[in-house]
Amino acid sequence: MATPEGTAAYAAAFPQFASAGHFRKLRFGAPLTVSSLGLGTYLGEADDATDAGYAAALAAALAGGINLLDTAINYRDQRSERVIGRALRAAAVPRAQVVVCSKAGYVPGGELENYLRVGLIRPGELAAGMHCMAPVYLAHQLQRSLENLGLAALDVYYVHNPETQQAELSREEFYRRLRAAFELLEKQVAQGRIGAYGIATWSGLRVPPDANDYLDLNRMVALARELAGDGHHFRFVQVPYNLAMPEAYTLLNQTVEKPPFVSTLNAAFRLGLNVVASASLMNGRLQMLPEEARTHVQQFLPPAAGDAELALQFVRSTAGVTAALVGMAQAAHVAQNLRAAAVAPAPPAQLARLLQS
Ligand SMILES: NC(=O)c1ccc[n+]([C@@H]2O[C@H](COP(=O)([O-])OP(=O)(O)OC[C@H]3O[C@@H](n4cnc5c(N)ncnc54)[C@H](OP(=O)(O)O)[C@@H]3O)[C@@H](O)[C@H]2O)c1
Repeated sequence: MATPEGTAAYAAAFPQFASAGHFRKLRFGAPLTVSSLGLGTYLGEADDATDAGYAAALAAALAGGINLLDTAINYRDQRSERVIGRALRAAAVPRAQVVVCSKAGYVPGGELENYLRVGLIRPGELAAGMHCMAPVYLAHQLQRSLENLGLAALDVYYVHNPETQQAELSREEFYRRLRAAFELLEKQVAQGRIGAYGIATWSGLRVPPDANDYLDLNRMVALARELAGDGHHFRFVQVPYNLAMPEAYTLLNQTVEKPPFVSTLNAAFRLGLNVVASASLMNGRLQMLPEEARTHVQQFLPPAAGDAELALQFVRSTAGVTAALVGMAQAAHVAQNLRAAAVAPAPPAQLARLLQS
């Protein structure tokens, strides 16, 4: 796994980012140090050409100042996990310096029939025809992910889009299933196969509390505490957050212990959760901003050479966001995005003014 000493040594090797707030400490246990940009591996075809692009981007990222890697077993039919595994073996960077994260929930392409046939997934556990978070299934997927990555342990393991289940179940049944998943994940921590766990979400944290896919962070932390006390390992939340999807900051939809409602970022901070932003470029659509939007946001953010950099500066400047995940299958995009990481983030008050404007 990544270690506090290893990740701190990684950060120390990049003094050019020291004054730009690029390396941050995770809020949990003996803290790991992670880069404010993480490399995501969701998009792209499941083919050799895309693998080659990711391999080059991963090498550039690890050599250039990015030590947070994000994937999921279903991304590109398991090829994203495998390309990360190869990149880690090829890189000069030791395992202890890199924070590796994956997710389980969505059945990887081509596997569903087989999983149902052998009873790994029982039909009642499947949501939307493609999602399962039953403990036996998660344990199997974790083992498969470790094999794909060629690792003995992952640093962060997410339940992938649990709202896919929530949308089809009563709240009671959903939290019963989530509790069983967390119980399994606490056991995996105890066995040294994961460092911590969390939820990676798409809609669940960006909707009002009465929505049928709404996810309640306070309730989840209470489940983890029930299972493992204050030293529980439910410590990560992944939420889409970008210039066009600012709900994690703007929507007051979470409570901590009791009302009033506060934002996801506020609640996560108070509940001891690290927030990792996903889709920082809105799945690549913020690389070219409309002229009017660019002119507007430029008033509030540090100077940036291009729109993608401006959009990333927004995410990594937001208080409560530890890291901005960016999908990068081109080494040139890694180099370009690292330019944003070398510039100090916008002050919180300026960010607040942008979000209120
Ligand atoms: N629910 C979830 O759990 C969830 C959902 C969404 C995303 N995520 C995670 O978050 C990561 C990031 O989200 P995402 O990949 O969906 O979208 P994204 O980061 O918003 O956008 C990625 C796209 O932007 C392009 N790009 C990157 N840097 C650029 C630059 N400087 N100029 C122009 N284009 C640039 C990439 O191109 P190239 O690939 O060609 O470099 C890719 O097409 C994912 O990879 C995944 O790890 C998780």
